[in-house]
Amino acid sequence: MASIPREKNTFVVTTPIYYVNDLPHIGSAYTTIAADVIARFYRLQNRAVLMATGTDEHGQKIQRTAESLGRSPQAHCDQIAAGFQSLWHKLDIQTDRFIRTTSPRHEAIVREFFQRVWDRGDIYMGQQQGWYCVACEEFKEERELLPEKRCPLHPNKAVEWRDEQNYFFRLSKYQTQLEQLYQDQPSFIQPEGRRNEVLSFVSQGLQDFSISRVNLEWGIPLPVNPSHTIYVWFDALLNYITAALEPDQEPTLANALATWWPASLHLIGKDILRFHAVYWPAMLMSAEMPLPGRVFGHGFLTKDGQKMGKSLGNVIDPFDLVQRYQSDAIRYYFLKEIEFGRDGDFNETRFVNILNADLANDLGNLLNRTLKMADKYCDRRVPTLVEDAIAIDNVLKSKGIDLGSQVAQAYELLAFSQACEAVLAVVRASNKYIDEQAPWKQYKQGNQAAVDQIIYTVLETVRLAAYLLSPVIPNLSNQIYHQLGFEVDFNHHDIGVVAPFSQHASWGVLPANQMLNDPQPIFQRLEPPS
Ligand code: MSP
Repeated sequence: MASIPREKNTFVVTTPIYYVNDLPHIGSAYTTIAADVIARFYRLQNRAVLMATGTDEHGQKIQRTAESLGRSPQAHCDQIAAGFQSLWHKLDIQTDRFIRTTSPRHEAIVREFFQRVWDRGDIYMGQQQGWYCVACEEFKEERELLPEKRCPLHPNKAVEWRDEQNYFFRLSKYQTQLEQLYQDQPSFIQPEGRRNEVLSFVSQGLQDFSISRVNLEWGIPLPVNPSHTIYVWFDALLNYITAALEPDQEPTLANALATWWPASLHLIGKDILRFHAVYWPAMLMSAEMPLPGRVFGHGFLTKDGQKMGKSLGNVIDPFDLVQRYQSDAIRYYFLKEIEFGRDGDFNETRFVNILNADLANDLGNLLNRTLKMADKYCDRRVPTLVEDAIAIDNVLKSKGIDLGSQVAQAYELLAFSQACEAVLAVVRASNKYIDEQAPWKQYKQGNQAAVDQIIYTVLETVRLAAYLLSPVIPNLSNQIYHQLGFEVDFNHHDIGVVAPFSQHASWGVLPANQMLNDPQPIFQRLEPPS
């Protein structure tokens, strides 16, 4: 791809890269769906979008998992990474980059970056003593630990004592600069509560952290001392730089900076906030590279109100879920039901109820019955109206006129649930409108102009709803657009050219006289779980 000028029209969104100790769980799917939705939203806006995800493949945790399964670490990583890719495909997630930290391109970036930080004098050798949680791949402060030296995030695993020579990164040197960053750019860490957590952590004084390991083979050797490997988090954070390379470009920092760096938005879970909001910007400051635009820490998912975990036996398998319910349903539930940034729950009965209410009834039935009426009363075409036939204070038109900008603002703020709610409110208003206006009565009375206006108004509202929800439910939006007579594919990367937001997010786009297609139910009612 030709390089894009600096005042780039780019939008770069990333997910964390996932550990390959196990197949993806619903938590990883949650972040990745959200990233895909925001990427799709900016594609509608015709921005040059890069959506990056990948797998975090080095470190003790992965090495031990592979050993326990009797596999070589690389063979293990290959297998699990393929599982992630397959799930993203099933969930209709459009990844522009899938970064694997064991790829030679990534290794080249890590080495060059390390060298820069080394040349700045920000790396030194020291003695690391402390409690290490292999599941977090992180040293823990003694005061953070639960009784019997257990990690608060992994209470069924004991932390391990380490006393070894490591190389350290001078995080403490960046204390003031980081504080300045948080002050100058209040939106750097979101939401507000997470920002406060970081401010309070940093105000306690930053300590240098170790960035190398000894006695661990499964990692990138340190350029300055190959008997050490690079700490998995130092390595992993750099995936965001590797992602900024074009696939055919030589893997250098200069190339990564040319087009896609800095990232606009890092989406992460709240447990890995410190790495992204403190360590990562400091590493970039040291390497004198631009900082990302914002870091958003979302909440954690529970199942039926309980923490999910293998030992609890209540993990939701996303492969099973997508097979039973299809991707749009899953995407919609998680984004509509949970306020992004807060913790949220998955409950299958609630899942089924919400989908039936919103997608099968409110949206699906509305389209279906209106199309049937258009078939009967309007010759299966979009009615042709005289100009300004629909009054500006028509309840649906007046809502529809504002809806595009309202929903766009919600997406920009990552308020996915608000975006869905705003659209659904108009859909519900349309159902009420059609019942009140009773076009079947008008038809009987020979009032064709009134029938035309009602049918047009409702069909146009459904179209607008489908367009604005297309980042969340692209396949349902495709079906709706198709039944309305368009040939538009919301899964296509050039959607922002074919159906740009500037046009399709407005009211009054449905062309008069457009031939409509067969009304088909777009969403089959789901059976309650047994
Ligand atoms: N490999 C690191 C990230 C490196 S990014 C440079 C990692 N991987 S992880 O696989 O353990 O977690 C990935 C993401 O999943 C994290 O953002 C984490 O917050 C998220 N989740 C893990 N369990 C979750 C839930 N139950 N609910 C929501 N998100 C959860 O950390």
